[in-house]
Amino acid sequence: MTARRILVTSALPYANGHIHLGHLVEYIQTDIWVRFQKLRGNRCIYICADDTHGTAIMIRAKQEGRSEEALIADMRESHLRDFGGFDIAFDNYGSTHSEYNRQLCYEIWGSLRSANLIVERDVTQLFDPKANTFLADRFVKGTCPRCKSPDQYGDNCDKCGSTYSPADLIDPISTLSGATPEVRSAKHLFVQIEKLHEWLTEWTQSGEHLQDEIANYLKGHFLGEPLRDWDISRPAPYFGFEIPDSPGDYWYVWFDAPIGYIGSTAEWCEKHGEKLENWWRPTGTPAEIHHFIGKDITYFHTLFWPAMLKTAGLRLPEKVHIHGFLTVNGEKMSKTKGTFVQASTYLKHLDPNGLRYYYATKLGSRLDDLDLNLEEFTTKVNTDLVGKVINLASRTARFVEQTGLSNAYPDDGGLFRDAAGQAEAIAAAYEACDFNGAMRTIMALADRANRYVDEKAPWTLRKDPSKATEVQDACTVTLNLFRQIAIYLAPVLPRLAAQVGQLFQQPIEKWEDAQTPLVGTRVTKFEHLMKRIELAQVHAMIEEGEQAAAALEATAAPASQWNDGPEPVAAEPLVVEHCTIDDFVKVDLRVARVVAANEVAGADKLLQLTLSLGGEGTRNVFAGIKSAYKPEDLVGRLVILCANLAPRKMKFGISEGMVLAAGAGGKEIFLLNPDTGAKPGHRVH
Ligand code: 2FM
Ligand code: ZN
Repeated sequence: MTARRILVTSALPYANGHIHLGHLVEYIQTDIWVRFQKLRGNRCIYICADDTHGTAIMIRAKQEGRSEEALIADMRESHLRDFGGFDIAFDNYGSTHSEYNRQLCYEIWGSLRSANLIVERDVTQLFDPKANTFLADRFVKGTCPRCKSPDQYGDNCDKCGSTYSPADLIDPISTLSGATPEVRSAKHLFVQIEKLHEWLTEWTQSGEHLQDEIANYLKGHFLGEPLRDWDISRPAPYFGFEIPDSPGDYWYVWFDAPIGYIGSTAEWCEKHGEKLENWWRPTGTPAEIHHFIGKDITYFHTLFWPAMLKTAGLRLPEKVHIHGFLTVNGEKMSKTKGTFVQASTYLKHLDPNGLRYYYATKLGSRLDDLDLNLEEFTTKVNTDLVGKVINLASRTARFVEQTGLSNAYPDDGGLFRDAAGQAEAIAAAYEACDFNGAMRTIMALADRANRYVDEKAPWTLRKDPSKATEVQDACTVTLNLFRQIAIYLAPVLPRLAAQVGQLFQQPIEKWEDAQTPLVGTRVTKFEHLMKRIELAQVHAMIEEGEQAAAALEATAAPASQWNDGPEPVAAEPLVVEHCTIDDFVKVDLRVARVVAANEVAGADKLLQLTLSLGGEGTRNVFAGIKSAYKPEDLVGRLVILCANLAPRKMKFGISEGMVLAAGAGGKEIFLLNPDTGAKPGHRVH
């Protein structure tokens, strides 16, 4: 069979927030699928990039007092570190803010123009009079004009799935400033995708490219009526690419984001001496494009994107694989409950293999939401991976360290052969993204292997020196069954596969490796391959999430901590409201002396400070500054305190104010330092 050429993408993460456990569902799912294709001998490349444009990034950069370029460069580093920590192995990780992408945007735009799909219209858009900016869709909330659900964002409704213009929202408010937006008029450019309606119906309903649920959803919600023109431009100021034939207007972030898939491929092609058209032109060498996305961005990937590709004469996706959302313990991820866990926080406490395996057991080919139940997670990892899989090796490998494996494969009653016979069924499950099905079959094989080793009990046999051959044979069988399982699990657990390769000095390179047992092979010293998870580790992770949320509220948090949501800014407290002099004088800033500073039991980020205001008594304040200060270094120094903040009840006690600090967070938090002449109680003017 000739190898397939497969280009795979995950949705491009926004560059204005950190990667969290919700994002990881998709990157882990895609990475497993890609690794599976590679193991099968297919030519597969995994392409991704940061999604860097739009108002959210522009506003955040402004707030942090730096350029958008500096902001996206930092976030890129952080994203790559997080992905690397979870063994997500992109072949190329680009950026939508690249020359490759700009060039491709020009070309695709040219095709849309030539096809007469672009029209110009003045539109009324919402304008935030306080923040002095037109409002991107995500910065407006209100009631859905179609189904009347409250609290919906400006571009689409997560209850009924309809898309609309933010100006159509009922009772809108700006999430930037809380102001009621004004309606103002500006010129916008639109793509008339209605002109491709017939073709889109055919493509989406062919049964080949989309899950049935998605095809039906599109038919029921969009394709039954004329498709609305797509507003593709935003007036300045906007962080993005200026439209060459419409100066002062910028492509809306959702235009250049999917083009980023091609832009990142172009970068990869340049590095590898390949031709872009062989991946993205239907006339090039045969290839398949597979997009993995979450259900919230279905509309963009199943209507707009295919319409753009079709018009530009580019290759259409073979499949768009769509997954559901993540819940934690049955609920939406929540910052206050600590379940909004960032990738980096998880990695501080737990092994990435655990999450990769757990998500695999939960992912099917349908769109169901996926629940991370933390107790089940712990049990599953311990029972399946440590108890059933790793145990096979930990109970046998050391008995053959001296002898190696038997020279001929012993009679195992057909166990190895039967498990080899499951290879195609397991492969079919991986191919269909039914990872849950694949994991169930693999764990059933692990159960059989455990029954075998329990019956043979080489640990007992070896007490009798005359049974040395039996011990070697029993270990040879068990270790071969173990290796076979590790091969089947290799897409999910690449680290385990690498360790198993080392154990037998025989790297796992292809799916067919599971067909042939190893004999006469040396077995190197057995290193423990994976540890049990203790619930305490999980609790520590959640605790850290809780504290991060509490610390954020208790101190003047650096802006870099604000945006860790899945969407730009949204309901986060990204406030650019102007404050009048009257507002400002209401804030009672005072010089205070730290008279005591203590760690807070159970809090990773907080210190408890007792602050003296001279003759005006003391205040108890919890400050999220532990990452940068030792309590003993604080005692005696002066700080600036916001003294009239309403007292706030926290988990650890009541906080009676806020100390002022600057910096990027982590070790870079700098308490503001009044001049030594200032005295506790002095007002800050
Ligand atoms: O929803 C999101 O997070 C977007 N940044 C996804 C973009 S995917 C693609 F179109 F680029
Ligand atoms: Zn609605």
